[in-house]
Amino acid sequence: PPGTRLAPDGQIVLGGCLVEELADQYGTPALLVDEGALRMRARRYREGLSARWPDSRVAFASKAFPCTAVYRLLVEEGLGVDVASGGELTLALAAGADPADIVMHGNAKTEEELLLAVDAGVGLIVIDNFDDIDRLERLVPAGGVQGVLVRFTPGIQPDTHAAVSTGQAGSKFGLLEPEARQAIARLRGSDRLRLDGVHVHVGSQIMDTKPFLQAVEAVADLGEFAVYDLGGGLGARYTYTDVPPSIDDYLDTLVTAARQLLPATARLLIEPGRSMVAETGVSLYRVVTVKHGTPTFVAVDGGMGDNLEVSLYGQRFEATVATRVGAGDPCILVGRHCESGDTLSTHVPLADPQPGDLIAVPATGAYTYSLSNNYNGARRPPVVFCRDGRSRAVVRRETYADLMRRDLP
Ligand code: LLP
Repeated sequence: PPGTRLAPDGQIVLGGCLVEELADQYGTPALLVDEGALRMRARRYREGLSARWPDSRVAFASKAFPCTAVYRLLVEEGLGVDVASGGELTLALAAGADPADIVMHGNAKTEEELLLAVDAGVGLIVIDNFDDIDRLERLVPAGGVQGVLVRFTPGIQPDTHAAVSTGQAGSKFGLLEPEARQAIARLRGSDRLRLDGVHVHVGSQIMDTKPFLQAVEAVADLGEFAVYDLGGGLGARYTYTDVPPSIDDYLDTLVTAARQLLPATARLLIEPGRSMVAETGVSLYRVVTVKHGTPTFVAVDGGMGDNLEVSLYGQRFEATVATRVGAGDPCILVGRHCESGDTLSTHVPLADPQPGDLIAVPATGAYTYSLSNNYNGARRPPVVFCRDGRSRAVVRRETYADLMRRDLP
């Protein structure tokens, strides 16, 4: 499956570790991360972009996997961080991110969050609306200067799920054409806010390069700036049939367009989230029960508590019995939650699944940890980094006591 390899006896190996041994050591469900693969993707992005456009930065869109170990690893690899809330900002700072390399987003940033960002020395705050400008002008102390970008909504509709399209007219994010120009004009007259440039992000899980080219054309139309932040959005390979553009194809598209349309002295920023982490994660479950019939339901010990992607966006995942080769009749792999939509994978040909079998669901590194929840009192799974045959938990499993942690007597 994407992101894993098979040992000669058909067992799944991740980061040099046999997943069966990981299940014994850490229990199930568990979210396993191939640390080497994550570092490799970070380098491919960072080195790939700086080779093509020297004055450039890659900021990890941390909403895709906001745990401090992931922030720390990507900061070590020389990446900046995109945060979308005071919470993500706090995590990034705790993990040692340089505030100057943080970009702060949000379509409804509160005064408290803006103040946190200004006080921390966040390099760029993205203006999403006119209230952001009003608030920041009040919050930035006299004599201080805060760098900002204007988020432009270019009216581009990529071919992806409506819930993850953000660049179309009618999106709640950013400013459309006349308003974006008004914001730019207003910021040019501000003495506390320094307009460094513009930002565009057209959507997520984008499987062709055209929307990225259109995004560069759109920001180029707005004029010349010092910084162009081109957002994220590159698709990940979830299934055998998914063929997203490679990181290199994606960077070629952006930089070829930038060379033609943007000032050569400008700094380029990109904010990959999903494509950085999705294929580096594998969710591990144990089969609890098999209900034979048409269809056959295979129910595991996790589900929408640790992976909401299927219920929210109809995201498709592969799944396989982790300890046995071969394929059987198509089954529906379901979770343990009280909701019919609690499905992990449909029509997946599992090899003779039995209670107690280990099931691996690959490509679960993006937006699973971040959207995990305690529905039905589920305890969120541990995150385990695997590399060169060694493993370590970087987030522990929740306990029942954790479920009461915030309750007052
Ligand atoms: N930059 C901005 C401003 C964004 O809003 C996003 C994602 C990204 C970068 C990163 O995009 P990516 O490279 O991950 O596609 N909750 C959804 C995903 C929503 C993505 C929202 N914005 C999900 O679970 O699939």
